[in-house]
Amino acid sequence: QILILDFGSQYTQLIARRIRELNVYCEIHPYNNFPDLTPNVKGVILSGSPCSVRDEDAPKIDFDKFRRIVPVLGVCYGAQLMAHMLGGEVQPSKHREYGRARLEIGDRDSSLLADLSPSSQVWMSHGDTIVDIPDNFRIIASTESVKVAAFKIADELTYGIQFHPEVTHSTEGKTLMHNFVVGICGCKQDWTSESFVEQTVSHLRHKLGNDRVVMALSGGVDSTVAATLVHQAIGVNLFCIFVDNGLLRKNEYEEVLHSYQDMGLNIKGVDAKDHFYAALNNLTDPEEKRKAIGRSFIEIFDQEAHLIEEVKWLGQGTIYPDVIESVSVKGPSATIKSHHNVGGLPDFMKLKVVEPLNTLFKDEVRAVGRTLGISENILGRHPFPGPGLAIRILGDITAEKVEILQQVDAIFIGGLKKWDLYKEVWQAGAMLLPVQSVGVMGDERTYESVVALRAVTSVDGMTADWAHLPYDFLAEVSNDIINRVKGVNRVVYDISSKPPATIEWE
Ligand code: XMP
Repeated sequence: QILILDFGSQYTQLIARRIRELNVYCEIHPYNNFPDLTPNVKGVILSGSPCSVRDEDAPKIDFDKFRRIVPVLGVCYGAQLMAHMLGGEVQPSKHREYGRARLEIGDRDSSLLADLSPSSQVWMSHGDTIVDIPDNFRIIASTESVKVAAFKIADELTYGIQFHPEVTHSTEGKTLMHNFVVGICGCKQDWTSESFVEQTVSHLRHKLGNDRVVMALSGGVDSTVAATLVHQAIGVNLFCIFVDNGLLRKNEYEEVLHSYQDMGLNIKGVDAKDHFYAALNNLTDPEEKRKAIGRSFIEIFDQEAHLIEEVKWLGQGTIYPDVIESVSVKGPSATIKSHHNVGGLPDFMKLKVVEPLNTLFKDEVRAVGRTLGISENILGRHPFPGPGLAIRILGDITAEKVEILQQVDAIFIGGLKKWDLYKEVWQAGAMLLPVQSVGVMGDERTYESVVALRAVTSVDGMTADWAHLPYDFLAEVSNDIINRVKGVNRVVYDISSKPPATIEWE
């Protein structure tokens, strides 16, 4: 595996993504708290950072812990830190060093730059630059404005680059990563979803033995894949709970419960609609709604978990980005952030936590799901927020409003599937607005609700654009909604991007 030491760059996760794409396992650890090298670690990568090596409190590291023991690659800050700490000089850049640059390779024999075209596009993003290097550093590539774009330390497999090979704008970054990880570090490319399933199931079997595990399933990809892995390991000792909070999509509860049963999971459906509606009664503030739902969920889950005798473990579908976020380095103070998905276990339950997906990225979770034979129906689902339709009904929640929105949502999502547009969008749904507007149906004037349709394209939900859906599709869906859903006489389409808007309206 490759160890990535994080100095807080926004791109650190991308380094890990690129290495995993090479079917090589890697882990990210904070620069100031990383595990000792084991024989499994074949190389170390030092990430970029928002800090400057010239700052008094700049993050520093003891290179002797890994240098000359395994190959090392410093990226941006990582490279500058090496130059700075080993006797070179780093100064603020005189020229703009952001964006595209052409990499002119100075050493054709360098294994790091093997197979790169003579003038490859790379992505720069730094305010400092290396102006002087120690005697034993060799420059192996430059750009027009950055002389020391890439260096190697003589007689050792230690490299530094001031550009970012992990971003897609560095068009041959993948080749460079391959050169380092496979060529220089000698990693085997055997990290596949099949090997992950095999190792994880055997590891879980060993760890859990005859213990009982309880898991809450949501119908989403992560919890389903996590439960399937645990189920393969321990079979009937896994107890799954699926709660109907009354805020799911139309028929979702029944359909998901059936598919879980078909998958052979030991699943209990719990109808807790009334509990959630009572907790939400008269609440209009989005955060208060979220809190009431979170609280109710824990109450129901705790009650159900206590019915299972001698349960020792809580299974969770936490994935790697949540874990990284919870231990990430943000600036030199290296503060540890907490994350709602990590350690979200209520203390009073006294259960140990098992999280079989906590080393995987989302697309890897899907690949593992495919290996496990989970249906595309579940794997290809759009994300759906935990608080469900409660944050898509603006204002207070009633069972009647939920039913109206479920019908609207079902027509919209059904339409997307019928028109083969479902996979084109990242997430879609409808919002019930707290607004009535005038309409006319037949000879009668109506005064009914407005619904907003929202569909976005995105990669990770952090930024999003509104989906440019065909007018004919929108016309058909709008017509269907107004004709078939009693209580709605107007449909609008949300054309806001994120930022500045968000995906959900609450
Ligand atoms: P926003 O609205 O912040 O949403 O652009 C980004 C993504 O997060 C989902 N979302 C939530 N998921 N609990 C969740 O589990 C929440 O409270 C919540 N709020 C938003 C949203 O659906 C989108 O995928």
